[in-house]
Amino acid sequence: MAATILPFPRRNRMTASLPTGHETLVIAHRGASGYLPEHTLAGYAMAHAQEADFLEPDLVLSRDGVPVARHDLTLDETTDARRRFPLRTRRDGKRYAIDFSHAELRQLRARAPQPGRFGLDLDGLSVPSFKEIIGLTRELNRLTGRRVGLYPELKAPAFHAAQGQDLERIVLARLAAEGLLTADADVPVMLQCFDPAALRRLRLDLGCPLPLVQLIDDSPAMAHMVSPSGLDRIAAYADAIGICRHLLEGPGRRAREAHKLVAEAHARHLAVHVWTFRADQDTDPAGTIQRFAALHGVDGVFSDHPDLAKQALRALQGLRTGA
Ligand code: G3P
Ligand code: CA
Repeated sequence: MAATILPFPRRNRMTASLPTGHETLVIAHRGASGYLPEHTLAGYAMAHAQEADFLEPDLVLSRDGVPVARHDLTLDETTDARRRFPLRTRRDGKRYAIDFSHAELRQLRARAPQPGRFGLDLDGLSVPSFKEIIGLTRELNRLTGRRVGLYPELKAPAFHAAQGQDLERIVLARLAAEGLLTADADVPVMLQCFDPAALRRLRLDLGCPLPLVQLIDDSPAMAHMVSPSGLDRIAAYADAIGICRHLLEGPGRRAREAHKLVAEAHARHLAVHVWTFRADQDTDPAGTIQRFAALHGVDGVFSDHPDLAKQALRALQGLRTGA
């Protein structure tokens, strides 16, 4: 039986149950980013309407310390910053969010970076602050009676520290100000990060009570994390691993090995969430998600197409129950 992300009796952390119970979670990757430009309020709202369980904002800071949703530290690929701020580049020719005040970031218009996706340049698609995203989710939960969560990723804490900004502390303070550090919060929150030092700091120094997710990609530098001893270390500060799907399906990877990795994580009470499922880049999108859920027993999937992920998982549930 797959481990579940909540509740966490092991540390008596977040005891609130999720509306989906023990089903595989659908995490809207950068919002419904297969349909609308990533990290926009419109994209998050669409994901909420598509019944995602969690919405994923990637967070970076403005110069004045406001967390905003952007995947990249730079603005060039996902906004019209080149046009609005032609001279505000660093030596590498790029415009960094942290060099702009929040008021300046508010002037930008978001764009979809992937070719073939949303092709209009709309004035209404701004770069949202974390506060705005919380407000939107909270209000949509109130209106729909659902309890959709937020699953923010802290992007590059070490880069922010080198720029004199404390990303972990600032995000935690925003969550505290919004009343989201309690088990009965109207918007459940899990925090994810690639940087183990930042997660340890959140847990051990800053006393973060929320579920923490160690992200792991398929680079050689992170391979040690999926070894038994690596998982032991992660289990000391985190509650889940969020892994690149190639770690379960990469070249030469046998189903048995993938199953073993998930089982070893579960044995340490670490839930397993996998990224990223994109219906426009998979030959069999529904079948792929069903395979990860049924064969490997993963606990959550990040998808650019939350509606299709949800459909695939519901169909799988129907097969299991004969409904
Ligand atoms: O956070 C999980 C996954 O989103 C990590 O990849 O690059 O899309 O943030 P990225
Ligand atoms: Ca992310």
